[in-house]
Amino acid sequence: MTDVSHDLDPAVFRSALSSFPSGVTIVTTRGEDGTLHGFTASSFASLSLDPPLVLVCLDRGATCFPVFLAAERFVVNVVTPSHAELATRFATKGENKFAYGTFEFDEQGHPLLPDAAAVLRCELEQAVPGGDHVILIGRVREARTGEGKPVMWYRGDFRHLGERAA
Ligand SMILES: Cc1cc2nc3c(=O)[nH]c(=O)nc-3n(C[C@H](O)[C@H](O)[C@H](O)COP(=O)(O)O)c2cc1C
Repeated sequence: MTDVSHDLDPAVFRSALSSFPSGVTIVTTRGEDGTLHGFTASSFASLSLDPPLVLVCLDRGATCFPVFLAAERFVVNVVTPSHAELATRFATKGENKFAYGTFEFDEQGHPLLPDAAAVLRCELEQAVPGGDHVILIGRVREARTGEGKPVMWYRGDFRHLGERAA
């Protein structure tokens, strides 16, 4: 195994991070001016059961960064293999992201994917600095689950969930 403990090589660091498989989410919101924004995120995690909190880390360099920081609400869509192309578009700067996919809108006009594996509608509780990212902490106001299995992200590829290990 490569030792990165003393002199951290950014490429090895990235490679180590990509060895950790994760789910994939498309996080969406609506700006004050009514424009729709979103980004693909694998940094989503559960944070607290009581109160119900989740988190997602957003790059300070993202175009949508100021909109999410100012947002009162956001939606986490846990995506399935059928959303892989959409997730790639939501990971592409300058893309007309909402021209694709079949979004529906909640009462506040925030976009959500009705065929997602899960949808979490959140209020932005806190934005905590974390290096070149900010941790968006959301208080979950509504959660729903769908039929589809979530897609996995591992070593730079979308993958299907495997068999039970035990
Ligand atoms: C599978 C995957 C996971 C990603 N996870 C994150 C993430 O957790 N946080 C983040 O800020 N960007 C993440 N990105 C990159 C953003 O989706 C991408 O930079 C996006 O275009 C940023 O939004 P912008 O178009 O408004 O700049 C991820 C990209 C991919 C393909």
